[in-house]
Amino acid sequence: MPNKEEDGIIRVLFASAEAEPFYKIGGLGDYSGSLPNALEGQTTKNNHKIDIRVVLPLHDPATIKKFSLHEEFAITLNSKSCKATGRVFTSKSNGIVYYFIQQLHPKIDSANVYASNEYVNSLKFAFFSLACIKMLDQIDWHPDILHANDWHSALIIHQLNDLRILNKKRNKFQTLLVIHNMPFMGNGSEKVFQDFMIHPTTDTDIPKWAQHLPLPMGIAAADKIVAVSPTYAEELKTNYFAYGLENYFIKYSDKLSGIINGINTDIWDPSKDMNLTHNFSVQSIEKRNKNKIELIKELGLNKDPDLPLLVVISRLENQKGIDLLLDGLLLIEDEKWNAVILGTGHHGYEHAFRALEREKPKKIRALMEYNSCLASKLYASGDMILMPSLYEPCGLSQMIAMRYGCIPIAHAVGGLKDSIFIKPESARTGFLFNDPNPNAFINCIKDAFSKYRQAEKWSSVQMNAMQMDYSWDNSAKKYADLYDNLFSANYS
Ligand code: GLC
Repeated sequence: MPNKEEDGIIRVLFASAEAEPFYKIGGLGDYSGSLPNALEGQTTKNNHKIDIRVVLPLHDPATIKKFSLHEEFAITLNSKSCKATGRVFTSKSNGIVYYFIQQLHPKIDSANVYASNEYVNSLKFAFFSLACIKMLDQIDWHPDILHANDWHSALIIHQLNDLRILNKKRNKFQTLLVIHNMPFMGNGSEKVFQDFMIHPTTDTDIPKWAQHLPLPMGIAAADKIVAVSPTYAEELKTNYFAYGLENYFIKYSDKLSGIINGINTDIWDPSKDMNLTHNFSVQSIEKRNKNKIELIKELGLNKDPDLPLLVVISRLENQKGIDLLLDGLLLIEDEKWNAVILGTGHHGYEHAFRALEREKPKKIRALMEYNSCLASKLYASGDMILMPSLYEPCGLSQMIAMRYGCIPIAHAVGGLKDSIFIKPESARTGFLFNDPNPNAFINCIKDAFSKYRQAEKWSSVQMNAMQMDYSWDNSAKKYADLYDNLFSANYS
């Protein structure tokens, strides 16, 4: 009989493919690096204390030395083709215990977080998911809740259910799956699943083609699903955003909710950011312009400081609406502006931005690199940040930009719609357009340009944006409430 004894502590195992400061490729790394810190040690409404631990794959052996990890024990999984072995390491950072699972396999030989080969990627994250469960047998800490993120760890939820693995102290594990990026479902996993003897989901509400994909398998098995913004949760009930799983989300809408992400306001603070020569705050906004004057000079752009400076800080991928951006920049040619594009990604896009820069060297700078120092400078210097994303589950750049007084011009989707306010005019923090076509986009840019030319109006938009509270506090409370609900379900 499971022991139903309660000690008032909610233990949460938080699984992710990446988390700052250990690994960060995209927004998932920011999320997993900051949410556990905002939750650890907090007391929930029902007076439970949260004890959260994080488990990550050990992507790069160099992490062991860099973060002084301790080797704990070895792990072996059942696999048809070979012995699947790994090692578990631990570390404590900011009071949080981190577990790192290393897979010892000749195919997993790169330090990259994500492999470019689908098979290797599937192998990597299937091993990680199964090893997480195995690890729980060997540690003296028993989570009540498993909080997984995206397809990489969704399989943990499926396996816990499929194998009816019980929490040693309680009835069962309660599970929460957070969706950061729906289109990535974990394609190419079939062979790996056969090897590890993982069964597809038997839930017929999941379409047949998706029954053997990790994300849908996790969705079917999870007790609760969170989308990273309320609008994204609604969008998941439509085909365009859910890629064929919309009927599942419509039918099970009671298990789906949306919680917008926060940003780390200690790191992203224009009054303290060490990357800036001229720090500023809402009280000293006049200092902001010095950053812009220096930057346009440094980058050799048109020196007129009154020209609007457009910035793009983004991974250069289809999701981010880069085609729209390229078309849009060509179409607003007749207006006077400067633009800086910072980011890496698809080679075709990098090439296109370089070509644009060659064509208009005084107007456009294409910095095809990942550079967090330059990113800070752009947030602090840019007048407007362009985010024409085709879909954006949450998006962090718009929130960071607003805190730095850089006004977003964005497609009204997902978290962009939930964090950028356009009404009433007196509370405006940015500009949104509805249809993802170049004309709607440039009309929106022109609207922003016209406000920009009216100094008083622009300064009120900037003030509104800089004073928004995008810290994790509010969102972390919503996760704590969910933990409370899941925890009480453990006893029912
Ligand atoms: C993914 C989404 C992005 C979101 C991030 C963190 O990268 O594309 O919109 O902000 O996850 O949740």
